[in-house]
Amino acid sequence: MNLIRAIYPGSFDPLTNGHLDLIERGSKIFDELIVAILRNAEKDPLFTVAERMDMLQQMVRRFENVKVDTFDGLLVDYAMQKQAKAVLRGIRAISDYEYELQMALMNRKLQPQLETVFMMPAEAYSYLSSRLVKEIFRLGGSVRGLVPELVEQSLREKVRGASAR
Ligand code: PNS
Repeated sequence: MNLIRAIYPGSFDPLTNGHLDLIERGSKIFDELIVAILRNAEKDPLFTVAERMDMLQQMVRRFENVKVDTFDGLLVDYAMQKQAKAVLRGIRAISDYEYELQMALMNRKLQPQLETVFMMPAEAYSYLSSRLVKEIFRLGGSVRGLVPELVEQSLREKVRGASAR
């Protein structure tokens, strides 16, 4: 049988309900979905890759066909290594489109066999981003409903850890 495996790559720093919404949608249309955390991001992340992996694993446990992994180097190379046929990316608003189009076309140039599939998260998450979650939390705002409770708890622990230092 010809199974369709897709990769959902990203930083997931941290995982939001928007990501989870997309994972759920992706799990319904692909036979297997690998959520792949980029390891060598140049940005200074709030959560380590191991922490992000742990949170993701706990949150996707309920989806039978979803796995979590990490990767570095080119996404197209990782996708080929995993014998994936598609890359899943979320588009929230028109503002995402330009960057996503550029990446999708560059990935196609690098590996024409790999398709990028865009999906829209639920409207309720159309303004949500990991960057805003971190900023709101750091400044004392509520992120309830924007991230899973587990992530909210981890954010609290991070902030507590940082202030104890
Ligand atoms: O969640 P993000 O930060 O928007 O995810 C970006 C990601 C990880 C999908 C992108 O940076 C990526 O694919 N990086 C791997 C390196 C690579 O293949 N770069 C060329 C992209 S055209």
